[in-house]
Parts: sequence; C-alpha cells; structure tokens
Amino acid sequence: EKGGFDTFMEKEIHDQPQAVGDTLLGRTDAQGRLVLDELRIDEEKLRAVDRITIVACGTAAYAGTVAKYAIEHWTRIPVEVALAHEFRYCDPIVDERTLVVSISQSGETADTAMAVRHARSLGALTVSVCNTHGATIPRESDAVLYTHAGPEIAVASTKAFLAQITACYVLGLYLAQLRGETFADDAKAVMAELHTVPDKIASLLTTMDRVQEIARFMSDTRAVLFLGRHVGFPIAMEGALKLKELAYIHAEGFAAGELKHGPIALIEPGQPVFIVVPGPDTPNELHKKVVSNIQEIRARGARTLVIAQEDDEEVTPFADEVIRVPHTSPLLQPLLTVVPLQVFALHLSTAKGLDVDQPRNLAKSVTVE
Ligand code: M6R
Repeated sequence: EKGGFDTFMEKEIHDQPQAVGDTLLGRTDAQGRLVLDELRIDEEKLRAVDRITIVACGTAAYAGTVAKYAIEHWTRIPVEVALAHEFRYCDPIVDERTLVVSISQSGETADTAMAVRHARSLGALTVSVCNTHGATIPRESDAVLYTHAGPEIAVASTKAFLAQITACYVLGLYLAQLRGETFADDAKAVMAELHTVPDKIASLLTTMDRVQEIARFMSDTRAVLFLGRHVGFPIAMEGALKLKELAYIHAEGFAAGELKHGPIALIEPGQPVFIVVPGPDTPNELHKKVVSNIQEIRARGARTLVIAQEDDEEVTPFADEVIRVPHTSPLLQPLLTVVPLQVFALHLSTAKGLDVDQPRNLAKSVTVE
C-alpha cells in the first residue's frame, strides 16, 4: 500500500504529479474554457462576488495564501486569507457578496468547519475545496470543488497541498473567465501551462538525491530559516512547517523583504537558510531583490541553500547549494519549489530516526477546536 516506498509520506510526495493532473482533469471543455458545472452555483451570484475570504488551517492555509496572489492578479477581487480559528473571533466583514472558500484535505477540521458555519450564518456564499468526498465541510457548504489527490495517510500534508493550489487556481481562473473584462492573463494559456506541471514535478523528483544528502548531514541542526517572496513566501512558511512537524527542529519562514526589519539579526556563521528564489522573469525585479538578500546573508556567514529555476545563473556565486527546479511562469512556481522542501523534511526526519508518518503530538485530522 506504500507503493514500494518506506513511508506513506514518501509515496505521497511521488503521487504529486498525478494529484495535480487529476485535479485539472475534466475541468475544461474542448475549447479549453473552464467548465465548473459541479459548483451548481448561479453564475450571477458568482459574478456579483466582490470579496473573497479563504479560511483554512496549517498547510491548507498556506495553499490559500499562494492562491491569494493568483486570484487577485487574475480577477482583481480582493482576497483575504484567514486562519479558520481566528476568523470566527475577529468580527469578519462578510455579506452575501462575499465568497468564503474553505480549504481542507480531510473536510473534518473542526476550526474550518466552524468558520464555514459562521460565514454562512452571515450570509456568505461558501465553497469548499476538499479532498474527501462527503466530508462534513463540503456537506455544509453551498458548493464543493474536490481536489483529486487520493487518500492522504501521512500526517504531514504534501500531495493535498499541491492539489489545493491547483483547485484554487482553477476556481480563480473560472471566476476570471466569468468576469471577462478584468482578466490579466489568458485563462486558456494558464490552464495549458498547468497541464505541463505534472511532468515537471515528475522530472524534479528524479533529481532529489542531493537534497537527501544535505538532509542526512543536518541531523544535529538546531534551527533552519526559510526565505521567500511573493508566492515563494507561503512556500517558505510551508517548508518551515514541514520541518517543525517532521524533524522537531525550530524552523521559521520569513518574507525575504522582512530580513532587514529584524530576522537578519538571527544570521550567524553556519546558520542554514533556504531561499526560494522567484524565477528570473518574475515582474518587479523580485528576482534581483532576492539575489541581493542571498548576498547579504551569505556575507554574514549563513549557509545558503538556494532553490532556483534551472535557467537562473545569477544565484550560483552566492549559493552553498543550488537546488534546481524546472522553468515555469511565476505563479506556477510554488507547485515545484515546495517539492525539495518536502523531500528535505522527510529525509531529515528519517536521519533523526523519527516516525515520518506519525509525528509526535499530531493527528491527521484535528476534529476538536
Ligand atoms: O484536513 P485539513 O486540510 O483541514 O488540515 C489542516 C491542517 O491541520 C493540516 O494541513 C496540518 O497543518 C498538516 N499536518 C500539515 O502538514
């Protein structure tokens, strides 16, 4: 049942090309237009949406944060990401033109279910992005968009995360298509590119030997930092979460732009730092800015573990290690850059002799508040 792998997590990391591919399946017509009849929500209601709030916890909330960048860019609808357990208590601004999108692998997370109930009581339109058929959250929502990652057994979420980003992108592109006039990119072109991602993940997975080796020699490490910018920021947060829960190592994710506002004080000789570098073609010179962050921390002795696109030569002089990912347009990069971070946490946990699939103190689905 582990498909020849030692752990469910490793198997599920390798299921990711299929998780993304299956989540895209059947959601476009022959012309490449998005068709989401499964939502069964009146198109007029969706067109009227003027605010989106994503509610989720943990890894699902990071998927939502990645999606925020894309959905706002494509639709120009303001998107807020709320941790589900905070949402109910912050007097949220929600009305019948608010689309509340919950993201949950299990569909049973109590905090998320209660956030959805609260949103409905305030009149919001609720859509559940969920991996489990017939679970509580999709049953209690107005509509559901299933992720097709297949059952996820390991406590640490991997393939569900990629499927959640994919499903949220499909939803964002669909909303953009409905609204037409404000659309920044061509939905068909984005969908076509999304369809190329599973093969890229599969090829990336064949190049993870060095990441495994790096992890193997880091079992004494006390703290690891993760930096990212734009969609790489939630990926840095996710990389840190994976390391905390699997290897019990203190790990923090930061937005690279925050460095000089505090976190750079943490840099001392030998401090390992992962940097998720935006592709060289990312707008607003973000690539250049992150490369100069790498320079800054390297000058202070950090050990720089750089995740960069295959065509990115500029990072090489400042990297102790470069982990290459295939080329994609900027918004699709998270579907690739997270993979080495998952593999790193898996192998560091293994190197420490820990239980990868069942980390201490954690449950696969958190059904109490
Ligand atoms: O089942 P859900 O997606 O609602 O679960 C949400 C979080 O509890 C979950 O993602 C958790 O953070 C994972 N253990 C992370 O790997």
